[in-house]
Amino acid sequence: MDFVKNPWIGSGKKNQEVQPAKEDFLRNLIPRVKEAREFHQTLTVYRPTSLHNLQQKADKLGINKLYVKDESERFGLQAFKGLGASFALNQILKNRENDLPSKDLTFVTATDGNHGRGLAWAAKSLGHHSVVFLPKGTDPYRLRIIEEEGAKVILTDSNYDDTVMMAEEYAHKYNGILVQDTMWEGYKEIPQWIIEGYGTIALETIDELEKDGVTPTHIFLQAGVGSFAAAMMSIFKSYYDREDLTFILVEPARANCFYQSFHYSEDTRVEGDLNTVMAGLACGKANPLALYIAEKFASGIFSVEDDLAEKGVDILARPLGEDPKIIAGESGAVTMGVLESLCKGSYRELRSFLDISDRSVVLTINTEGNTSGKLY
Ligand SMILES: Cc1ncc(COP(=O)(O)O)c(C=O)c1O
Repeated sequence: MDFVKNPWIGSGKKNQEVQPAKEDFLRNLIPRVKEAREFHQTLTVYRPTSLHNLQQKADKLGINKLYVKDESERFGLQAFKGLGASFALNQILKNRENDLPSKDLTFVTATDGNHGRGLAWAAKSLGHHSVVFLPKGTDPYRLRIIEEEGAKVILTDSNYDDTVMMAEEYAHKYNGILVQDTMWEGYKEIPQWIIEGYGTIALETIDELEKDGVTPTHIFLQAGVGSFAAAMMSIFKSYYDREDLTFILVEPARANCFYQSFHYSEDTRVEGDLNTVMAGLACGKANPLALYIAEKFASGIFSVEDDLAEKGVDILARPLGEDPKIIAGESGAVTMGVLESLCKGSYRELRSFLDISDRSVVLTINTEGNTSGKLY
């Protein structure tokens, strides 16, 4: 596992000129995220997901507390992604109220699996259609599950980033509405709603932590295009407003666009097959808003091999003592693999840079359950 420090924090360097549009996202964020949560609360399947306290594991790792928010329980979809897709669709329909017709719409997306499943589910629940593009190498189980949500599925011969472009072209050609979880110039509003939708995870976590009377000191976040991590960093940071709140990002080594961007101090795209067991994180191009937020708030980024994700799955599946068992997919569990290596390996200097000690209250988020239909 490799780590790169944020080259912008504490160095006096300035990476970008003032970016008013991106700063705008952070303004009044909490009320917008609360609106998303209020929308989620109207859904019959809504229930806050569990925040597990793994005290025995925390003791073993030499930290004060370890919490795992378990998004495998979300909406019966085994991943958090339905939060973003459902809120985005709600906002799209709300904004079209005066445009006729709003019946029989087709929502289009590209996905590693989880976002597509969330979108197909949200479209079906509202009586609309969905077309979901999947990159080459997608697990057939994931493909089938999306079809079962009623989507038309198109398996491409390209990697994730090129598949996104195909979905965009398709939506344009067939009058569909692209619901993508990343941004580019001219395509910002819908991904922003998706990010706000993810915010429900942070708000629920804050409520639970308050009941325990604790504030997190370290939050480990896995990144694909980075929209999820951006939502968490900006909400926790806005809410707690504490200097000592440390965010640590984790990416697969074969799709480490944030790591590379930090390393080279500029926006970087990773090319190739992006082949990793962390399918949810297999993205070669960062969402520019997420990159901006990472540059502002993340202390650094780990770029890790697949075995660490497998290790994370194993740790969560075989709890210590009274700690609960958590079924996780590789993209969900990789942060646990990193935490374990960091605390138990010979990373003394890094631990001290990140200020991880017996006072630390660590939060990780298991973003998916058994999404590849593996046997446990
Ligand atoms: C399980 C899981 N975790 C994390 C992520 C990362 O989210 P993002 O692409 O917004 O960084 C994804 C994205 O698909 C995912 O499926």
